[in-house]
Amino acid sequence: MHILEQKIRDKSAKLGVIGLGYVGLPLAVLASKKGYTTYGLEQVQGKVDKVNAGENFLQDEFLEKHFSKGMVNATTDPRIISEADIVLVCVPTPVDKLYQPDLTPVRNAITTITKNLNPKKQTIVVVESTINPGVCEEVVEPLFKEAGFEIGKDYELSHCPERINPGDPKWNVSNIPRVVGSFTHKGTEQTVAFYENILDAPVRPMKSLREAEATKIMENSFRDINIAFVNELAKSFTALGIDVVDVIQGASTKPFAFMPHWPSCGVGGHCIPVDPYYLIERAKKSGFDHKFLKLAREINNSMPEYTVEILQDMLNDLKLPLNGTNVAVLGLAYKANVGDKRESPSYKIIEHLKKHKAQIHTFDPFLLKESTEKSLEDILSKSQAVIIATNHSLFTELTPETLEKHSVLAIVDGKNCLPKDIFEKSSLLYRGIGR
Ligand SMILES: NC(=O)c1ccc[n+]([C@@H]2O[C@H](COP(=O)([O-])OP(=O)(O)OC[C@H]3O[C@@H](n4cnc5c(N)ncnc54)[C@H](O)[C@@H]3O)[C@@H](O)[C@H]2O)c1
Repeated sequence: MHILEQKIRDKSAKLGVIGLGYVGLPLAVLASKKGYTTYGLEQVQGKVDKVNAGENFLQDEFLEKHFSKGMVNATTDPRIISEADIVLVCVPTPVDKLYQPDLTPVRNAITTITKNLNPKKQTIVVVESTINPGVCEEVVEPLFKEAGFEIGKDYELSHCPERINPGDPKWNVSNIPRVVGSFTHKGTEQTVAFYENILDAPVRPMKSLREAEATKIMENSFRDINIAFVNELAKSFTALGIDVVDVIQGASTKPFAFMPHWPSCGVGGHCIPVDPYYLIERAKKSGFDHKFLKLAREINNSMPEYTVEILQDMLNDLKLPLNGTNVAVLGLAYKANVGDKRESPSYKIIEHLKKHKAQIHTFDPFLLKESTEKSLEDILSKSQAVIIATNHSLFTELTPETLEKHSVLAIVDGKNCLPKDIFEKSSLLYRGIGR
């Protein structure tokens, strides 16, 4: 057995995780819990301090249960890379304002590795960040080559896309199955051995890096396309006077070949509204036009504006202009019960409300610093209309009585998270998305 594989198996291999965010920190904690000495390289000093203090600053359930001080040695000093046998790259892969993929964080992280790599160690570098097919071969490997390192001799390069779903009570960093692709056979074996040692889930070796990269992009594009389909149905069924949620529930009684997806005021987060662009742009370079994916993105991007249009219709019925009306936007995070605002549709909704000169108030219990109001009571007392943009538990418990008490007249349930029948029986005007 190769010496590094032996070190992986007896857990004497040292681990370096670059980027201690939603992906990197739970992974570092998991590896530490499983017995590996784990270093974390993070560029933000505030995060380094919090990690070294054992603080669960991400409000993550897995971290809440398993993270404590001393598990991860965090630092801003890149020299820890020279100590590591395995380096996991967990940095962001965003798009810019024109939806162009921005690989700068990945490039920077790889450059940091090449400046500190000890070729004698034959370190395994694993990119966990979501990337389009081709990034490892076309962007990552050339950076190593430029720095004089030969793949398979001085280091190994693998991709093991992270599938974590923050806030998910069932699936977490340790129990989600993984796929692994590498440049060499040895790289695949070693990387699979490492993940098998830390996970309580199967690890599937893929035939190539490209296949592993494509797997993750396919998964997230699948979600984006299906969500776009139900968002389109939400618009069409509204015109037809059909409740799309009831129909999805009906279709879900079919025990095969149907998987429910739900319409909403928009798709947010660092993955679903971002990753498809990586494939769209890379395929374009190879002469392929991803019409279907582009359309899905367009439909999902249209939902915040559609939500504001629904409110405008309702206010019309009340003979109120949106201009000057006090509107409460409940929720700034992109998903329930987390404080992550990346690509959140709430901000797009706010932009559209601004265009119409509405008086905007915002409240998110997980993002208080970002909120204009500091409590639900405060925001409701100031508002004539409400848009639920995030289905935080606090908002799903709202009753017509609470809203009526505060003289709210209309509510748009952007997440279809309230009991429609009860709201429709009240004095309030209620509309969901597609219902
Ligand atoms: N958040 C998710 O739910 C999720 C799920 C699956 C996959 N992913 C993918 O994982 C990757 C990371 O996402 P995330 O949500 O953890 O991002 P994040 O922003 O929460 O964390 C990334 C961290 O990397 C740090 N960083 C960036 N460049 C660095 C560098 N050169 N050196 C040291 N630190 C650096 C940032 O400061 C940040 O703390 C992305 O590609 C994302 O698409 C995310």
